[in-house]
Amino acid sequence: MKTRVSKIACVGIGLVGRGWASVFSGGGFDVSIFDSRKGAAKKAAPTIRKLARFIQENHLSPSQTLGVVRPVSTLAEAVDGCDYVQESVFESYGAKTKVFKDIGNLNPKTIIASSTSSLSISKIQTAARNPSRCLSVHPLNPVYIMPAVEVVGGKRTSKEVVQTACDLMVSLGKVPIRLNYEVPGHVIDRLQAALWREALDLVARGVADANEIDKGVASGLGLRWAAVGPFLRAHLAGGEAGLEYYFEHIEPSHSHIWKDMASWKRAPATAKERALESVRSFASGMSYEELVAWRDELLLRLIGAKGNKQPRAGSTP
Ligand SMILES: NC(=O)c1ccc[n+]([C@@H]2O[C@H](COP(=O)([O-])OP(=O)(O)OC[C@H]3O[C@@H](n4cnc5c(N)ncnc54)[C@H](O)[C@@H]3O)[C@@H](O)[C@H]2O)c1
Repeated sequence: MKTRVSKIACVGIGLVGRGWASVFSGGGFDVSIFDSRKGAAKKAAPTIRKLARFIQENHLSPSQTLGVVRPVSTLAEAVDGCDYVQESVFESYGAKTKVFKDIGNLNPKTIIASSTSSLSISKIQTAARNPSRCLSVHPLNPVYIMPAVEVVGGKRTSKEVVQTACDLMVSLGKVPIRLNYEVPGHVIDRLQAALWREALDLVARGVADANEIDKGVASGLGLRWAAVGPFLRAHLAGGEAGLEYYFEHIEPSHSHIWKDMASWKRAPATAKERALESVRSFASGMSYEELVAWRDELLLRLIGAKGNKQPRAGSTP
């Protein structure tokens, strides 16, 4: 049976929970917010309301009405009568399984979505009273702007719950990326982790400093990726004969690059030291708030120019 989502709670009101709460309120949903740190939800409420207005003013949500943001002081109050709970507590099995267990006992009917970046939802859902209603809905930072969210169920999640979460995300103006089964880091964080390891390694080897690498991504790869992903990129790089030609004539040359690339599993100390030194020097003129505002403004302009366009026969960008 399909769930109609009308009441939502956010549990864990750190960076990501605040972002989610603003997305739900900006999408017209009433949202209860709870954090185990005393007073944290109440303190965060004005920021969340401000971000919800920002979402609507910048047309990031199809809704024209703001939902009510209600800080509460117990988990029971937060999840009472909810159809959907977005969990964004600390990234540890201990914290997440406890919250899933408690929410499941308080409200066994609600869907519980985890923001986890790297933990297994199959493992987390075993703690809940109704594991078929638990799944992972993973956002990208800044949550109040980035359209993509990754949606995946665990071994015991019902298909209907995954579909309800995808429908909810679409109704909020998000772009759900649906995975067939879970892997640590989903898809986007895995791609990012591959690039992050190589970027750190290039800095550690002194090939380029962090500022040059960031410029290369922001003015090269990232700009192109806003239009086409890695597969369409390769298809186009193969010329008129496309991906087939690319696999035959261009892709084999990757072996020269792959042989020379990093494969370590923990970042070497030199990589961290050099990255810190370089980032300190190029980001030092601006405060955290100024950098966030600068990034958000540019993201809004890019999203405004791009919309959610995908190439289709007969379509123009
Ligand atoms: N930071 C990111 O860029 C990012 C992006 C996507 C997903 N995530 C995921 O989102 C989740 C939260 O990350 P964050 O960066 O917001 O962390 P954070 O440390 O900023 O916030 C976590 C919040 O959870 C609260 N909390 C801890 N235990 C709790 C409990 N039992 N009940 C209620 N509240 C509790 C803490 O007080 C804190 O305010 C993690 O699972 C993380 O992997 C993070």
